[in-house]
Amino acid sequence: MERSFFMVKPDGVERGLVGEIISRVEKKGLKIIAMKMIRVDANLAKKHYAEHAAKPFFRDLVAYITSGPCVAMVVEGNNAIKTLRDMTGKTNPKEAAAGTIRGDFGIDVCRNVVHASDSKESAKKEIELFFRPSEIL
Ligand code: RTP
Ligand code: MG
Repeated sequence: MERSFFMVKPDGVERGLVGEIISRVEKKGLKIIAMKMIRVDANLAKKHYAEHAAKPFFRDLVAYITSGPCVAMVVEGNNAIKTLRDMTGKTNPKEAAAGTIRGDFGIDVCRNVVHASDSKESAKKEIELFFRPSEIL
């Protein structure tokens, strides 16, 4: 069993895609063990995307992720991290395969609908950043 951090980004919430995305996660057989709607503030956004701090798109990334409510989740299952990355698709929706969340719904590299942890280390860090242990059921 593995845990991953998964989040519907502001464009996904604004466009009413939360139900569709949760449904895909559940139908895949993964288990949602924590979930909340949150407004990510700049402090949390900078910690979450710390690995990109030196990149030219960092300011836009922080501005975007703080621009509206997100739905954050902890998802558990066999191989949950890779499974969610595969379901998410490539970062740029133009390159993401049909059948992936970004391939089906993504607009551009910024408005790419969801975030999914990319490794065991980032999953652990991100779950601790967004959830208190008592919120994980
Ligand atoms: P995420 O962390 O959001 O799940 O996305 P990811 O792993 O597929 O991609 P990552 O390399 O971690 O980049 C994080 C987010 O930064 C934005 N980005 N913009 N303009 C650009 O070239 C560029 N590259 C990345 C994307 O919104 C990406 O989701
Ligand atoms: Mg990433």
